[in-house]
Parts: sequence; structure tokens; C-alpha cells
Amino acid sequence: MTGKFIAFEGTDGCGKSTQLKRIQKWLLTWWPHPVIITCEPGGTDLGKSLRSLLLANRDEKIDPKAELLLYAADRAQHVESVIKPQLAAGAMVLCDRYTDSTVAYQGYGRGMPLGLVSKINQLAAGGLNSDLTLWLDIEVEVGLARAKQRSQPDRFEQSDISFHKRIRHGYQNLAKANPQRIVQVNANMPINDVTTQVKQIISTRFNH
Ligand code: TYD
Repeated sequence: MTGKFIAFEGTDGCGKSTQLKRIQKWLLTWWPHPVIITCEPGGTDLGKSLRSLLLANRDEKIDPKAELLLYAADRAQHVESVIKPQLAAGAMVLCDRYTDSTVAYQGYGRGMPLGLVSKINQLAAGGLNSDLTLWLDIEVEVGLARAKQRSQPDRFEQSDISFHKRIRHGYQNLAKANPQRIVQVNANMPINDVTTQVKQIISTRFNH
């Protein structure tokens, strides 16, 4: 039995969490197996500790290599202990961020060499790609304003606007290079319209 793996991606404040909950509710009405929501970083017990280390605001500058490897550690644990077993049980796994985040944030955002990021991603993901990646594309300024309203800005949300623009550009390039796997969703629209777009994409892809 093999389930399906859908990743949700986008710059900060793009509305992933809201859409994930709505889509889970909808999938539960027709997908014949469990539908689970999980996230990176933080989808395991170890990952929760890594997440708080990664997002905390601190005076010390974190070296981009250290950051890349901490995200990889979170992913390796998550893939082996959560995602793969759930897929083996036939579940629909909805993941808040996956390997494309590392390419966009650590590659395009921090400037780590893309070839190296790709190798680390392969190692961490153990060869597991998503069946579908939904890129919730939003104007960077709009997303950041939303994120700031929601809570105290974390280490990433505090970074300057050019960092976030590079990340969005990264997602644009990723989507161009992987048109089969990555589908762009216009997330500048009202929440209900975004949900409608996402449902249509999933229905088409999984023959609902
Ligand atoms: P997330 O929980 O999605 O935060 P938000 O809901 O604010 O979008 O992700 C936490 C942060 O981690 C987010 O700013 C993106 C960053 N991140 C990376 O830089 N690289 C990665 O590989 C992943 C998975 C996340």
C-alpha cells in the first residue's frame, strides 16, 4: 500500500497552515486512508527541539552551513520515523514545507551552492520526493505583514525584504524546473479562493 505525499511551500506568511487544515478536512471526506498533517522543521520530538533552536532570535550569527545541516537533521529524522511509515500505511501525508524550502531559503536566500544543497537534501530525504508540491505564491510584503500580525517575528521573519525576495525567486526557478511536481497557487487571493484552487489541483492530480 502506498499513500500520497503533498508538500505545501511558500515564503513566510503565505497562508500554508490555514490551507493545510482546510484541505485535510476536505480530504478526510473522500480519501480512503488516514490524512495526516506534519511539518518541517518540527515533525518529530527531536525536530521540535531543532525547530526552537532554528527559529529563536539570538545575538550569535548562525553560520549558513550549520543552518543547512540542522534543517537536514530535522528532515532525516522526520522522513524515516514519520513520513515513510505513514506512506507505507497508505496515508495522505500533508507536509508544511519540505526539500524545496531548503533550496529556496538556504540556497537562494543564504547563498549556499545549489549543488551542495541538492546533495544534502538527497541524503536527508533518503530519496523521497513529494508526489505534488503546492507553492502558495504571495507578494513578499503581504506575507511578511501577515506573519508579523500573527506573532512576534521569528529569526527568519526579521530578515530584510531582499532575503525574502530571493526566496520567492528561488521558488519561481524551482517551479520552472519541476513543472510536473510543483504547482503554483495564487495566494494573494481571499482564503476561500485559495482553497478552491488547491482542491482543484489535488482533484485533478489524484483523480477525484
Ligand atoms: P514555518 O513553520 O513554515 O514558518 P511560517 O509558518 O512562518 O512560514 O517554517 C519555519 C521557518 O523555517 C520558515 O521561515 C522557513 C524556514 N525553513 C528553512 O529556512 N529551510 C528549510 O529547509 C525549512 C523546512 C524551513
